[in-house]
Amino acid sequence: MLSPGYPAEMAYFTRGLAAAGARVIGVGDQPPSALPAAAREALAHYEHVSLSDEGAVLAALHGLRQHAQIDQVECLWEPYMILAARIREVFGLPGLTVAQTVPFRDKERMKQAIDAAGIRTPRHASTTTVAGVWEAAERIGYPLIVKPIAGAGSADTYRVDSATELAEVLPFLRHVPEVSVEEFVDGEEFTYDTVCAGGEVLFENMLWYRPRPLQMKMHEWISPVSIALRDISVPHLAAGRTMGREVIAALGFQTGFTHMEWYRKADGEAVFGEIGARVAGARIADLINYATDGDVYAGWAEAVVHGRMSRPLERRYNAGIVFKRAQGAGRITHVEGLQKLLGEYGDHVVVVDLLPVGAPRRDWRATLISDGTIVVRHPELQPLIEMTDR
Ligand SMILES: Nc1ncnc2c1ncn2[C@@H]1O[C@H](COP(=O)(O)OP(=O)(O)OP(=O)(O)O)[C@@H](O)[C@H]1O
Ligand SMILES: [Mg+2]
Repeated sequence: MLSPGYPAEMAYFTRGLAAAGARVIGVGDQPPSALPAAAREALAHYEHVSLSDEGAVLAALHGLRQHAQIDQVECLWEPYMILAARIREVFGLPGLTVAQTVPFRDKERMKQAIDAAGIRTPRHASTTTVAGVWEAAERIGYPLIVKPIAGAGSADTYRVDSATELAEVLPFLRHVPEVSVEEFVDGEEFTYDTVCAGGEVLFENMLWYRPRPLQMKMHEWISPVSIALRDISVPHLAAGRTMGREVIAALGFQTGFTHMEWYRKADGEAVFGEIGARVAGARIADLINYATDGDVYAGWAEAVVHGRMSRPLERRYNAGIVFKRAQGAGRITHVEGLQKLLGEYGDHVVVVDLLPVGAPRRDWRATLISDGTIVVRHPELQPLIEMTDR
């Protein structure tokens, strides 16, 4: 397991692997003393090595192989997906190869692979030059989106409505080596997430982002919300769900977590956004657990170790997470209105994890987690929406 203790939720996946009967070797940058207890207790061995140094990781694993057999490599953290694939290739292990991982990392290669399967993507081009951006803009037309081909968290992502705006935005992209230029797709944003084994979908989840992530990024006053939907069989979501299954098949994904984002236009058309071969970040695994009363950490581990899920996850609730942004700058001075809402909503509120009074505000641009989270759940969608809005 690469990076078995970071980000925080990795510790629970690591624990799941051990619970599924695997002997887990952890490989990560964290000093052993910094490993969360859940990870430390689950590991048979830990190699402390810099994950950004591929040579050092491979050398450590060659050494380890004198004493232990390595059967499988798992990684659920985006920056090291390619490293995981490299290790598989070097040691002849099953799972995603480098060539199979690239379409999950490079947004242009991703869309080319999806296009080849006849699935609707935004009109797109990738380029490394300013002239290339202008040429792509001409061909694709406005409004458009310019973003890094390997971005995350909406960083360096701009909506551009005209040539004048494009000229204004280009200087901000100077440090980005390669950009994607895309048709701007107007619509709502959802995910299609799965746990698969042997190409078969064992668990599906759909999140509804409120508002669209680019809006969250632009307006500080918004406390972003993600809702794990209970009923994903509604007509509203049908096109996205079908697309999700087609995308997984098109990319030949076999076993593990997937996290796809897609747009739903007002006319109902589903348009592909992006896909990762990993779990969604920002506490979404916990949100799934609140929506199902299950354990998706253990379910994923069973899927990757045994190819099945002995306790299927059943969606019982709509579960919403609010990433609460405080107002103003500096330290948290007080919290307003929480007691009243807790009084009204009682048991529907399952997590209140806000920064304590006196703590410095987090950088809202740098972290989606913001100044704390609140999780609410309800079997019906309308009351859930009301709770997250309030
Ligand atoms: N073609 C597009 N049309 C409309 N909006 C877009 C388009 N591309 C990106 N966006 C907006 O920018 C956001 C970020 O883009 P995208 O998901 O591709 O990048 P990301 O930074 O990798 O996101 P993540 O944080 O999910 O990794 C999207 O959620 C969406 O709101
Ligand atoms: Mg995204």
